[in-house]
Amino acid sequence: MFKQSIFKGSRRYLASASRKQPSIGRFTGKPNPKTGKYTVSFIEGDGIGPEISQSVKDIFSAAKVPVEWEYCDVTPIFINGLTTIPDPAVQSINKNLVALKGPLATPIGKGHRSLNLTLRKTFGLFANVRPAKSIEGFKTTYENVDLVLIRENTEGEYSGIEHVVSPGVVQSIKLITRDASERVIRYAFEYARAVGRPKVVVVHKSTIQRLADGLFVNVAQEVGKEYPDIELQPELIDNTVLNVVSKPEKYSDSVAVCPNLYGDILSDLNSGLSAGSLGLTPSANIGHTVSIFEAVHGSAPDIAGQNCANPTALLLSSVMMLNHMGLHEHADQIESAVLATVASDKKNRTADLAGTATTSSFTKAVIERL
Ligand code: NAI
Repeated sequence: MFKQSIFKGSRRYLASASRKQPSIGRFTGKPNPKTGKYTVSFIEGDGIGPEISQSVKDIFSAAKVPVEWEYCDVTPIFINGLTTIPDPAVQSINKNLVALKGPLATPIGKGHRSLNLTLRKTFGLFANVRPAKSIEGFKTTYENVDLVLIRENTEGEYSGIEHVVSPGVVQSIKLITRDASERVIRYAFEYARAVGRPKVVVVHKSTIQRLADGLFVNVAQEVGKEYPDIELQPELIDNTVLNVVSKPEKYSDSVAVCPNLYGDILSDLNSGLSAGSLGLTPSANIGHTVSIFEAVHGSAPDIAGQNCANPTALLLSSVMMLNHMGLHEHADQIESAVLATVASDKKNRTADLAGTATTSSFTKAVIERL
């Protein structure tokens, strides 16, 4: 019989996505026996990356989190025309099994392939978990938004298979495989069970993408038979978009899972509904052995270097990471301080939330609340 989550009704942002971890992709790292600290790989990223990373470092240090950072340079290198990340970074992440990552810029239409994609492929990060929840005390157009979306992270429209058929005619392949669909859908069911959500919504457009999305939905129906305690609800993406905008609370008891591009777009919509800003939404990229945590937003080149970026999304990503590592008390402490700061006053909020705080004054206000 399905059991209600012990976190139901909790006031914490990541309550539904925190202590209870799915059986797939569990952290198996150990602290250094000499120092008692875990080593975590840290990719600070581009644009606003270094500024928001500094905020995480300052807050972790003030909260005495038993974590040592190992900084990774992921400046791309090219081997046989393929974009790869430098070997020391690969070795660091494979050794530590966990990384925190700032945003990485992707050149449009030329230059290296997306490093985000390269990281996902290199470490087999097959599921991207994106919770989006209203923050209590911080008023936005929508209230009581509590959405969890799991995005397939390795293929679909991001397979990178494109070619020119003839001048003016371009073909781009959306690759859907049984294996990749099955592992992300199974993860979604395990996740729903672990956090106590009784429904998995499979978002698709199989009326048009009959083979590709058709396979995704068929696999969900097969996997769903192994989870009789969880209801499976296939839903066309256009219906999901309308429902999420008109009645977001309809999804508070479910976990949505979808192919790559739908997940990318839907999760930004979810961020807008829950907070009115991309600056609040965290995410986890889960693999079988390695996991990488990052904000949903990009490198925000328009505001880089101005000390005005909102570090909340990276901070909440670091909270997801601490919960993944079993460091729940530190996770709770930082999460409570961040949320209390966002909810407190306009002068403590950054400009994306119509406030007047800088990145560093926000960080200071969080540290005062630890
Ligand atoms: P973006 O997310 O960087 O920016 C969109 C808008 O949101 C901008 O107005 C920006 O100022 C604002 N914004 C984003 N994060 C914010 C924060 N923390 N605080 C305050 N405002 C914030 O998306 P955009 O402009 O499409 O992409 C810029 C670059 O980032 C591109 O090179 C893109 O490829 C890359 N990118 C990287 C991602 C990653 O590393 N996971 C994800 C998305 C984009």
